[in-house]
Amino acid sequence: MAAPPHSDALVFFGASGDLAAKQIFPALQALARRGNLELPVVGVARSEWTLERFRAAARESLARHGGVDETAFAVLAARLRYVTGDYRDPATFTRLAQALAGAARPLHYLAIPPSLFETVVGGLAQAGCATNARIVVEKPFGRDLASALELNATLGRCFPESAIFRIDHYLGKEPVQNLLYFRFGNAFLEPIWNRHYVSRVQITMAESFGVQGRGRFYEEAGAIRDVVQNHLLQVAALLAMEAPVGHDAERLRDAKTQAFKAMRPIVPGEVVRGQYRGYRSEDGVDPASDVETFAALRLHFDSWRWAGVPFYIRAGKCLATTATEVRVDLKPPPHVLFGDVSAAPNYFRFRLSPHVVLALGARAKRPGEAMVGEEVQLVACHEHGDEMAPYERLLADAMRGDQTLFAREDAVEAAWCVVDRVLGRTTPLHIYDTGTWGPPEAAALLDGGRWHDPQADFGRA
Ligand code: BG6
Repeated sequence: MAAPPHSDALVFFGASGDLAAKQIFPALQALARRGNLELPVVGVARSEWTLERFRAAARESLARHGGVDETAFAVLAARLRYVTGDYRDPATFTRLAQALAGAARPLHYLAIPPSLFETVVGGLAQAGCATNARIVVEKPFGRDLASALELNATLGRCFPESAIFRIDHYLGKEPVQNLLYFRFGNAFLEPIWNRHYVSRVQITMAESFGVQGRGRFYEEAGAIRDVVQNHLLQVAALLAMEAPVGHDAERLRDAKTQAFKAMRPIVPGEVVRGQYRGYRSEDGVDPASDVETFAALRLHFDSWRWAGVPFYIRAGKCLATTATEVRVDLKPPPHVLFGDVSAAPNYFRFRLSPHVVLALGARAKRPGEAMVGEEVQLVACHEHGDEMAPYERLLADAMRGDQTLFAREDAVEAAWCVVDRVLGRTTPLHIYDTGTWGPPEAAALLDGGRWHDPQADFGRA
């Protein structure tokens, strides 16, 4: 199959916003550094700026987020163009069409609130800027199943699915891709990666910080919408999916979508929601807010491979540490030969952040006369200084038309089906102290087990 054509201009709406400052400018500078930014870059925003002011804003953003690389910045600055205007005004899009002069396949990045998507998509179409174009949108894709269906319909009116790129930056993370590689690049895993050998899976995304000035956004979201429906269900899908049939992006996305469809919709009894003490006095937060900053959930897959194996997911702000980690517990040996009946089972650990670690927990004999064992971890660390940050990788992929690392419409909708019944106030809210592991009620989900502590050392546990 011929490779899709490369985009010949990059347009980003919300050019004076937070996402542009924190993620887009650093990604563009990184692309320029690697020689991958050979197209005009048009910022669109309401701020009435000159091009020089826009360039200065780009420089300021970089100084605050990662630093200015003078050589790469010179390349980026030379590519920049700026269009100012109200998104509801058709004249804004006429000016954009002029700024795009000659570009036949632009990539439009909507770094703006979802409430503006319809207006901007309509404006693009009317000005002829949607023809042969691609569009990038950010998670969350809607706020529940109904709004996701609406959003997909809005995008679908002007863009075919093959031109829609839904960014979930988790998919651009090196360690998340490593999950897929580790599973299907090794032959030894497949025979044990199923209900016969795996007893349970835990995914923890802990953050030791709070909402960091994003109170207003968080009030609209909460932990389940913010990170579970997207990042963590994506991780669960990568762990649970069948091997894709074939090499191309669609076959991989087919296999992942099947995994989403096998997830049983979560019911209120399988969720514990928490809120850290002090959240209600954060900027932009309702003093009586019942939005969750912590969620723990029990997920089941209705599939041949995973029937009966619980997947426990836990995410929260202001917890004891910052770490995202997957732990896959294996079943104990069928017969106890050495008397250590209470020995911990074998397990795999995949540390996804802040640094990448893969570990296999096993048992080995402790030196001495007695046949007594101890737990050891076989640990592999992956650290590469020059790793591409997720936004750089994802932007480059979108410009190339490669959808492998983007969420597809059917998968997004299936993921909303999984959490749709437990969004909002459907379950009680428990207040927890900052610096803890969230409300103790979360332990009850584990059917007598314990939540894995990602702080437990690698090396000897
Ligand atoms: C974002 C969420 O999508 O992911 C944030 O909105 C969260 O609340 C962040 O902190 C975590 O991603 P990362 O890559 O910083 O670990």
